[in-house]
Amino acid sequence: MLSSQASVSFHTIHFIFFVFVASTIFHLQQRVTKLQSSWELQRLVPVPKENPASQQPKGMWTINSIGRLGNQMGEYATLYALAKMNGRPAFIPPQMHDWLAPLFRISLPVLHGTTARQIPWSNYKLNDWMEEQYRHIPGQYVRLTGYPCSWTFYHHLRQEILREFTLHDHLREEAQRLLRGLMVNGSQPSTFVGVHVRRGDYVHIMPKVWKGVVADRGYLQQALAWFRTHHSSPLFVVTSNDMAWCQVNIDASRGDVVFAGNGLEGSPGRDFALLMQCNHTIMTIGTFGVWAGYLTGGQTIYLANYTLPDSPFLSIFKPEATFLPEWIGIPADLSPLLKH
Ligand SMILES: *[C@@H]1O[C@H](CO)[C@@H](O)[C@H](O)[C@H]1NC(C)=O
Ligand SMILES: *[C@@H]1O[C@H](CO)[C@@H](O)[C@H](O)[C@H]1NC(C)=O
Ligand SMILES: *[C@@H]1O[C@H](CO)[C@@H](O)[C@H](O)[C@H]1NC(C)=O
Repeated sequence: MLSSQASVSFHTIHFIFFVFVASTIFHLQQRVTKLQSSWELQRLVPVPKENPASQQPKGMWTINSIGRLGNQMGEYATLYALAKMNGRPAFIPPQMHDWLAPLFRISLPVLHGTTARQIPWSNYKLNDWMEEQYRHIPGQYVRLTGYPCSWTFYHHLRQEILREFTLHDHLREEAQRLLRGLMVNGSQPSTFVGVHVRRGDYVHIMPKVWKGVVADRGYLQQALAWFRTHHSSPLFVVTSNDMAWCQVNIDASRGDVVFAGNGLEGSPGRDFALLMQCNHTIMTIGTFGVWAGYLTGGQTIYLANYTLPDSPFLSIFKPEATFLPEWIGIPADLSPLLKH
């Protein structure tokens, strides 16, 4: 009895298995046919994907578009990284697109004003450094705010950030043409050092608001000297929003310094492209210089400790979250602040 029962159920199992296999094959075939025909259809008209809502990340994240080129880049990269970390799709405001798209092959889509105004945003204020809670920001419709520009948000995605900030070909080629035409001692240099001297409004804002200084003549002298001892015959390509000051304060008598651009504000894109095509960077202060160093990827010298220890600047700015650990800091001369 036991054995006949066993053999019956054995037969049953076989049969069920056969039916299962047959129906699977039948269904698979049907699916393949469906896939084929939908693939053929797709070549003619786009077919909406199956269950789109359940698989795509929900909501919409964006960030404020404030400040100039360097800040816009920081905001873009921070949105890119935090939205990805939180599994949300990211959209940039049109103003940010206007700053960045003429220069870089950015990929985040633009959210137009009429759509943006209909969305019930919740604002989320960011510090200028990564914090643990930013990994779990609640909300489907989040507008990040602040002036984030810190590698601590996006350095784990460095390759993607470099790809987002790839220059358009015509800008790269224009910068390359300019560099190729430069000589040191009658021969083409093999090492180019981009120098960015940020002055303009900062010259007044740093001492008045932030108990700080901007880069002075002594800092630039030390930074150039560092590259002259570590590289043979480097060429320094100076960009600035105050070229007149640079021409007086940077010693060009050795024939290894060129003052590039027209020194006027308004063509930051061209200056930026030039700095990116150099091999190394000397920055002073500001996010423009930070980005030049970050994207150029060679050796970077920065002005360090340029505020007094009790400066309110240090509550919104962390040097260790701004400058990469391998960058080289030259401390600022704070004596002008102590004279008053
Ligand atoms: C240019 O050549 C002279 C003579 O060889 C040398 O002393 C000088 O250091 C060179 N200048 C630069 C910037 O390399
Ligand atoms: C330095 O920069 C120049 C100009 O962009 C480039 O042609 C050269 O290959 C770079 N050198 C190195 C070692 O990357
Ligand atoms: C800046 O100041 C801090 C604190 O005094 C110090 O540890 C650091 O070495 C200074 N940085 C540079 C580049 O001198």
